[in-house]
Amino acid sequence: MKKIDLNGLVSKLNRIEERVERLALLSQLSQILNSTLNHQEVRRRAMEAATQLMKAEVGSLLLVNEEKQQLYFEVALGDREEDIKTITLNLGEGIAGWVAQNGKPLIVNDPEKDSRFFKGVDERTEFKTRNLICVPVKVKENVIGVLEAINKQRKEEFDQEDLSLFTSLADQVAIALDNARLYQELEEMFFQTAESLAIAIEKRDPYTGGHTQRVTLYSLAIAKYLQLKPVEKKWLKIASVLHDIGKIGVEDKILRKPERLNPEEFNAIKHHSDMGAEIIEHVRQLKEIVPGVKYHHEKIDGSGYPNGLKGEDIPILAKIVAVADTYDAMTTDRPYRKGMAKDVAIEELKRCSGTQFDKEVVEAFIQAYQRGEI
Ligand SMILES: [Fe+2]
Repeated sequence: MKKIDLNGLVSKLNRIEERVERLALLSQLSQILNSTLNHQEVRRRAMEAATQLMKAEVGSLLLVNEEKQQLYFEVALGDREEDIKTITLNLGEGIAGWVAQNGKPLIVNDPEKDSRFFKGVDERTEFKTRNLICVPVKVKENVIGVLEAINKQRKEEFDQEDLSLFTSLADQVAIALDNARLYQELEEMFFQTAESLAIAIEKRDPYTGGHTQRVTLYSLAIAKYLQLKPVEKKWLKIASVLHDIGKIGVEDKILRKPERLNPEEFNAIKHHSDMGAEIIEHVRQLKEIVPGVKYHHEKIDGSGYPNGLKGEDIPILAKIVAVADTYDAMTTDRPYRKGMAKDVAIEELKRCSGTQFDKEVVEAFIQAYQRGEI
């Protein structure tokens, strides 16, 4: 009768179990990677995934800068993260440079003996590379970066199984990075389109050149000191750009009038906030910014327009745009008056804080101003 090698069987089973576990981990990490469209977040998660999946001490993602023909360390986990962030490699230089240039993966279990190994990184970070595994990150055959895991834990070496798992992870990283890039480009395109539209409308009024861009700049400077969430900052940016979009419906003779407006003309101008809101309401994705546009002329004491909202009833985006908008109006020249000096305008904001403007928004504005951001 044939003797069963129980020990051999157990170790085989253990290996299979470990492989299943790693595949499950790969699937889990891939899901985590692809559940965000934030490029920076994808890069961070890629580092973590590389370290975890490869059971390594450190993981890094190097991205290709096509223009400079260089690779740069985006982030690197580990104790010396700050050091490693600043390092760039030329394509072809070091193991990562070789992998990027050739589009092929590499396992290096004895870097000292590999002439491609670049000691510069270790020297600058006082980190000792014992072994490493490095795979290209490809989008449609184009190498966009390199994923690297350094120093396998428990003094083990990297093997072919690691390589196959790491290559699969790199494919997922490539998809996640590319999706995030496309999403970012789409967002930028949308923002620039909105900005062009606002500038086109602004051009009808010869006295407000650059107003849209300045208001956006001031609003974002204020937001920095108000602890807005990243998504609120995005809305604020668009609301600032589109705040006066409703002026498209104001007659030229009023908009271009060099003299002060009479009450009737001023009433016509007042419609622009409602009109702006009506225009953007047509775009479902802009739902969140409608209040920022509609209420940017409301005042804390209820004396503003269009609805005479008071205090906390005024949405935060509108309160921020109001301060940014008024400050710019005060500090730029009009045909019938010269613009105020910055410090005089600041005093005016302070004077109207709590009546016309939200106190916290004015405080945030002043903080940004004092730091030279406005
Ligand atoms: Fe306005």
